[in-house]
Amino acid sequence: MEIKGVNLLLRPLRLSDAESLLRITKDKEVLEWLLLPSKLTINDIIKLIKKSKTSFKAGLYYDFAITYSGVIIGLISLKNVNHRVNNCELAYWIIKPYRGKGLASEAINLMLKFAFNKLRLNRVTAYVLAGNAASSLLLIKAGFKLEGLMRQSERKNGKYYDEQVFSILRRDFK
Ligand SMILES: CC(C)(COP(=O)(O)OP(=O)(O)OC[C@H]1O[C@@H](n2cnc3c(N)ncnc32)[C@H](O)[C@@H]1OP(=O)(O)O)[C@@H](O)C(=O)NCCC(=O)NCCS
Repeated sequence: MEIKGVNLLLRPLRLSDAESLLRITKDKEVLEWLLLPSKLTINDIIKLIKKSKTSFKAGLYYDFAITYSGVIIGLISLKNVNHRVNNCELAYWIIKPYRGKGLASEAINLMLKFAFNKLRLNRVTAYVLAGNAASSLLLIKAGFKLEGLMRQSERKNGKYYDEQVFSILRRDFK
């Protein structure tokens, strides 16, 4: 399944994406605000892609490659889809050369349409490490509301981080 926007095409991950994804996961600019281990090998990536394909089919976790003119420039995921309470979590990143062009906004909007209109979910939550101003502003611009701060709820490289909690409800989405 593919989701087409004005500039972007979102599509499920393929095994042939492994090399591009490996290169991207070595990029410090991408890793700065993410909770990805930095020492992933090609085999780890292949396992992650296989797992992603299974979870996608099961409707539990949707990873989409963000592609621009056929090139992967990021990832966007609906994680931990809960069909009892109709909610899920949103996560995303875009590689540096493609930032500041409104592409993350476009990808988020496409994913929210998918979450609310196709999956019929009611709530999408996003967790942002405190200090990640770009991501917080991006979510506010996309219609999310800040709900609060989870103190020291994440750990990265041995350090605890607070996380801001944002959400958007179906009724907020236009
Ligand atoms: C956060 C991220 C996805 C933004 O991607 P992007 O494609 O540059 O975002 P957009 O161009 O769509 O920006 C939309 C809005 O977000 C905000 N924004 C984005 N980057 C910003 C920055 N560096 N500083 C301040 N605000 C920023 C602005 O409000 C912007 O709207 P504007 O251009 O009208 O001012 C990207 O910087 C990224 O991948 N960062 C690293 C990974 C990450 O933080 N992921 C999120 C984890 S929660």
